[in-house]
Amino acid sequence: MKKVSTLIMVFLMVVSVYSQEGWDELAKTPPMGWNSWNKFACNVSEKLIKETADAMVSTGLKEAGYTYIVIDDCWLIGRDAEGNMIPDSERFPNGMKSVGDYIHSLGLKFGIYTDIGTKTCEGRPGMRGYEYQDMRTFASWGVDYVKNDWCSAEHQGARASYAIAWDAIKQAGRPMVHSICEWGFSQPWEWGKESGHLWRTTLDIADCWDCSELAISYGMQVENFLGFTKILDQQSGLESYAGPGHWNDPDMLEVGNGNLSYEENKAHYSLWAILAAPLMLGNDIRSMSPEVKEILTNKEITAVDQDELGKQGVKVRDDGDYEIWSKQLGDGGRAVVMFNRSESSKEMNFTWNEIGYPDNLKLQVRDLWEHKGKGKYTGQYKAEVPSHGVVVVRLSL
Ligand code: GLA
Repeated sequence: MKKVSTLIMVFLMVVSVYSQEGWDELAKTPPMGWNSWNKFACNVSEKLIKETADAMVSTGLKEAGYTYIVIDDCWLIGRDAEGNMIPDSERFPNGMKSVGDYIHSLGLKFGIYTDIGTKTCEGRPGMRGYEYQDMRTFASWGVDYVKNDWCSAEHQGARASYAIAWDAIKQAGRPMVHSICEWGFSQPWEWGKESGHLWRTTLDIADCWDCSELAISYGMQVENFLGFTKILDQQSGLESYAGPGHWNDPDMLEVGNGNLSYEENKAHYSLWAILAAPLMLGNDIRSMSPEVKEILTNKEITAVDQDELGKQGVKVRDDGDYEIWSKQLGDGGRAVVMFNRSESSKEMNFTWNEIGYPDNLKLQVRDLWEHKGKGKYTGQYKAEVPSHGVVVVRLSL
């Protein structure tokens, strides 16, 4: 009898190690997709989600690597007598499974939002106490990605709460990416890997370069309203926590939402790529300008983000307004972003030494926005970088 139970235990351990490994594979590179929140907030519906899924295909975004269509807050209105979730039937008249089926029929993947506390940030039911039931329901709807928020959870321990949700996902038996949205309060980079694939590192992103002025005009605390440059400033030092299967998440993209200039949009996209950030589009992809589409489908920049080595880029120099970011790549090369935060254009440079190469090495340099080889260089590279803009190059041996 003892032998049998030992055998069963060993079998279960092997299965659990195997399934854990299998599930890490779900996000071997940072997840790419679209999320409704940044542009549409509570204004979600079956129509919007289906049209967005269609646009993902017709605009070439799917082909460029974007896969997940994630419905954020406000799709849920309550629970029935058995505790089952009741989606908003006005917004989603055919229920959530049919939305998922549609997304899947286009070869895309289905993501949904929940909250680890008692209520979502928009006051809808959270999953506290319903973790196993809700994850089972998500699995039955064909959900592939669960974003799990941190509102109304102030009396909970973050690490333990997300571990329950992760166990619930595994018990539900459907591989689902678990996106921990805890805003960096309890250093999720230290434990997020145990219970999810990505974890937010900061409060929410907003659609501006820095957002201080906007925050003041709204009467908000400046430190609670973050433009992409402010979020960027909070990423240094977190590099070592990211890798295949587990990623720091500096929040969804604001590219194309209206307040950033062409150069700023390019900078935002390039810097998220050098950070190996999840690339979740936050704009209306049904009506993008050609410029925005060109940015989001720049495959050479996206390839930096999606590089198989899974190394997060590092800020190797910070001269106030002028920053150099470098990311080690799987082919032994480097991607380098020269970022000019000043109000005028500037000739910037970086040396091989700064990015971990001997200075006497001859390296090929390719400009990833110009899509042009720039020739071979030894020791350093220089370029004119526009105000609020970037030059991004890829170096190879
Ligand atoms: C929080 C999250 C956002 C979004 C909203 C929805 O603020 O951080 O990304 O999901 O909730 O209410």
